[in-house]
Amino acid sequence: MFSFKKKNQNQVVSDDLDMTRIPKHVAIIMDGNGRWAQKRHLPRVAGHKEGMNTVKKITMVASDLGIKVLTLYAFSTENWKRPEDEVNYLMDLPAAFFDSFVPDLIKNNIRVEVMGYTDQLPKSTQKAVFDAMEQTKTNTGMVLNFALNYGSRAEIVTGMQELANQVKRGELEPAQIDEATISQAMMTAPLGEYADPELLIRTSGEQRISNFLLWQIAYSEFVFVDQHWPEFDVQVFKSALKTFQNRDRRFGGLTK
Ligand code: FPP
Repeated sequence: MFSFKKKNQNQVVSDDLDMTRIPKHVAIIMDGNGRWAQKRHLPRVAGHKEGMNTVKKITMVASDLGIKVLTLYAFSTENWKRPEDEVNYLMDLPAAFFDSFVPDLIKNNIRVEVMGYTDQLPKSTQKAVFDAMEQTKTNTGMVLNFALNYGSRAEIVTGMQELANQVKRGELEPAQIDEATISQAMMTAPLGEYADPELLIRTSGEQRISNFLLWQIAYSEFVFVDQHWPEFDVQVFKSALKTFQNRDRRFGGLTK
């Protein structure tokens, strides 16, 4: 239960948000788990465990706010460079997460999706994710989209190879390739009209993109927050959404 004070504070921030301008697709680079743990003299994986709890909380808040797609960068194609123990821990997290959380996802009409090179994940990780997708496939509310073994340059390479093959087979003329064709070749294509995030949040004070959604963020607003992912809470989230709502999005044009 929230204390009275906290509930009250949440209410104030929530009232402050324009519910007609909630971003449809929010993507988050969940950074700072390791530093959060190290600051507390805990092993790095304790930060990932706490980070998993943050994922649960933020998923519920995002769904309640009416966000259509929440994309979370859970494991990058570069994260394999980490110590084996840490990689193994991260690979076991989806099973732990979905084992305890799928009933809540179903209750809240949330559908699980995944994007990334899932065939390179351990079989048990693949099973955890695919089972969760199967169990939530008829849900029509928010899409909880995990980027797992995802890298944007690799995604673009794979997409371009696919288009080149279509040209080679005579199914596509080079002159027909346009922005829509390329969007269709990206891993976000199943998200349809919500493929491109309107808002990208990165936690823990780092201000870089780290090979995330390079094609899709052409017109996204970026919000960088100082909190490490395990301490990212409803207040920080709503304040990032408020920052988004205060931005003047011109898409290269002029303000009306
Ligand atoms: C970045 O922090 C975080 C990750 C690489 C892993 C993200 C995973 C979670 C938040 C757990 C939830 C996942 C699922 C599938 C439910 P970091 O380790 O790079 O932190 P640092 O920069 O402080 O070292």
